[in-house]
Amino acid sequence: MNVQGKSILITGGAGGLGSEIGRTLAKNGADIFILDLPSTAEAAEKLAEELRSLGVSAYFEPIDLTSEEEWAKVIADIRTKTARIDVLVNNAGINIRKPIEDMSYEEWMTMMSVNTGGVFLGVKYVLPVMRKQGGGAIINTSSVCGLIGHRFTPEAYTATKGAVTLFTKAVASRYGAEGIRCNSIHPSTVDTPLVHERLKDPQFAAERLGEVPLGRLASAEDVANAVLYLASEEASFINGISLPIDGGVTCC
Ligand SMILES: NC(=O)c1ccc[n+]([C@@H]2O[C@H](COP(=O)([O-])OP(=O)(O)OC[C@H]3O[C@@H](n4cnc5c(N)ncnc54)[C@H](O)[C@@H]3O)[C@@H](O)[C@H]2O)c1
Repeated sequence: MNVQGKSILITGGAGGLGSEIGRTLAKNGADIFILDLPSTAEAAEKLAEELRSLGVSAYFEPIDLTSEEEWAKVIADIRTKTARIDVLVNNAGINIRKPIEDMSYEEWMTMMSVNTGGVFLGVKYVLPVMRKQGGGAIINTSSVCGLIGHRFTPEAYTATKGAVTLFTKAVASRYGAEGIRCNSIHPSTVDTPLVHERLKDPQFAAERLGEVPLGRLASAEDVANAVLYLASEEASFINGISLPIDGGVTCC
């Protein structure tokens, strides 16, 4: 897959899936900007060093994705390091694991703010750059929960991921004419820091495994390979799709 020389921004780039996406894209020759919270600095700088050892450029850009002001600053800083922004991977996300009756409105809004607000702001701030350069690719991380009302998952998380699914299609339909592709990915459970503690519960782990026709959890590499494809030249006619990476969970 050809992503050689592309400048790629990955939100939540220091996390479980984000770091693997960065490795895979860097191995294929892309320059990487890791956008993540300041609290991840140690891991993010270490990852950037690892990626640079592969012969590409890699930078950590500290940001709280829910702040419009910070997006403006980070994009301005990135533009001093690269003329182009070829790909934005809106990967960051959180999950407050509470059912509706236990969840406060504030918690609901926090989930919305990170999982949908962060995606909106990312798209808002890269669009002018992509339009000016005549194209680009945006990949939004939803979830299987953005395709079905998944019964093992908090409803608020499902609502945020459903919003990402249709936001993606709306962006794809409006900006496709300017050469900007926008697609979403929909992973099933992957053992990352987001779910690691929960997977220690044998019942939770068995339920998650039991729903996968292919009989195993997704790996971070499965997700990273899908991102590599959607970011690549080979996917130049793929726009507005919702790609499950779920071993068949959503076909049942
Ligand atoms: N792990 C799974 O099973 C799974 C399944 C489907 C979808 N997803 C989605 O994949 C994406 C990545 O998840 P993960 O499993 O790697 O989780 P993770 O917790 O390992 O990583 C998430 C990253 O996002 C960053 N982040 C959170 N809030 C932020 C903010 N306000 N500003 C900047 N960065 C912020 C965190 O610091 C972290 O590095 C998320 O959108 C998640 O919803 C995960």
